[in-house]
Amino acid sequence: MHTVCLVGLGRAGHFHYRSIQQMDNVQLKYIVDPDPEALKGLSGNTGVIHLVDIDQAIADDAVDIVIVATPTQFHFEYIRRSLEAGKHVFTEKPLGKTLEEIEKVYALAVAQKKCLHLGFQRRYDTNFEALKASLPQLGDARLIRTSSRDNPKPSLDYLKISGNIFHDMLIHDFDMLNFLFGPQLPETIYARGYAYDNAIAELRDFDTVLVTLQYENGMICSIDTSRTASYGYDQRIEIFGKDGMICTENEVEHTLKFFNDKGMQSAKALHSFPQRYKSAYFKELLNFMEAIEEGPQFNINRKECVLAHLIADAAYESVMKNEVINFKLQYGELI
Ligand SMILES: NC(=O)c1ccc[n+]([C@@H]2O[C@H](COP(=O)([O-])OP(=O)(O)OC[C@H]3O[C@@H](n4cnc5c(N)ncnc54)[C@H](O)[C@@H]3O)[C@@H](O)[C@H]2O)c1
Repeated sequence: MHTVCLVGLGRAGHFHYRSIQQMDNVQLKYIVDPDPEALKGLSGNTGVIHLVDIDQAIADDAVDIVIVATPTQFHFEYIRRSLEAGKHVFTEKPLGKTLEEIEKVYALAVAQKKCLHLGFQRRYDTNFEALKASLPQLGDARLIRTSSRDNPKPSLDYLKISGNIFHDMLIHDFDMLNFLFGPQLPETIYARGYAYDNAIAELRDFDTVLVTLQYENGMICSIDTSRTASYGYDQRIEIFGKDGMICTENEVEHTLKFFNDKGMQSAKALHSFPQRYKSAYFKELLNFMEAIEEGPQFNINRKECVLAHLIADAAYESVMKNEVINFKLQYGELI
């Protein structure tokens, strides 16, 4: 039996809460959230102890797992304290705000011999798992086209502390490149962006971005992203290779197609990430629970995590300077 402390009960905390409820050998003992109303939306008598800081849970030897789902700026401190106290940690992305934070927590997890897993749930999505499984039949991958459009637009309060669109959203796409092709270093990165929302522009951030990456073997990848998509949550990947083309489509509300004299209508894409990735969120946590018994210690290794982080840094640098970044040359030795 595992005993869990969940830190942060917002959008991400809620999907992890739901996953925990579906697991047999897991007891949720504490939820840490400074908001006194945080647990109000949970139905029934949960039996969970609400704390406004983590001290009591950290000191409780019965707790062997901490799940971190706070705003990004607090991840590092909670991960550090939990690992130091001998807990296994599952954390939402991104792991940390700086390279230094990332290096410190990986070193700490190694020293403490504790599992550290990251919430890159797309790796556990059946569509993307199938995409990866079919790669060997495709021959060399030559062109990759990823669309990664969120819905609905997050609140301004969230965006203010999210890091930026590169570290908050595109980090998932950079991780998918690691997942699909292994941690390869792009030769060059070029990004363009625009903020249609003035409040986002004032944050020196963007709501609409295109990033292109080119690799030594010629492979070119373009990733487009938007903070909002009026037609629902849009996450697709297409890979063109020597021996064919593979792609994944959006998950939709139902499969009905209606043909009439105006044309053809089909259902909308699922509304947002809690719907699209419902099973992936469960699978990533289940995988973490199993890893505590059997490994692996990390679901995303240090190199992959650092690479995704630095690509996000380089893409932001590119868009701000309107320059092509020679990634391998400039960032290579840090990886
Ligand atoms: N993997 C995904 O699909 C996904 C989706 C959404 C968010 N996220 C990640 O999850 C994290 C949280 O995002 P969110 O959308 O749930 O945010 P949110 O604003 O909806 O919720 C954050 C929660 O944390 C609480 N909180 C604030 N400060 C805290 C502190 N110091 N200690 C403990 N709790 C604190 C808030 O009261 C709130 O309940 C972010 O790092 C984000 O990147 C991941």
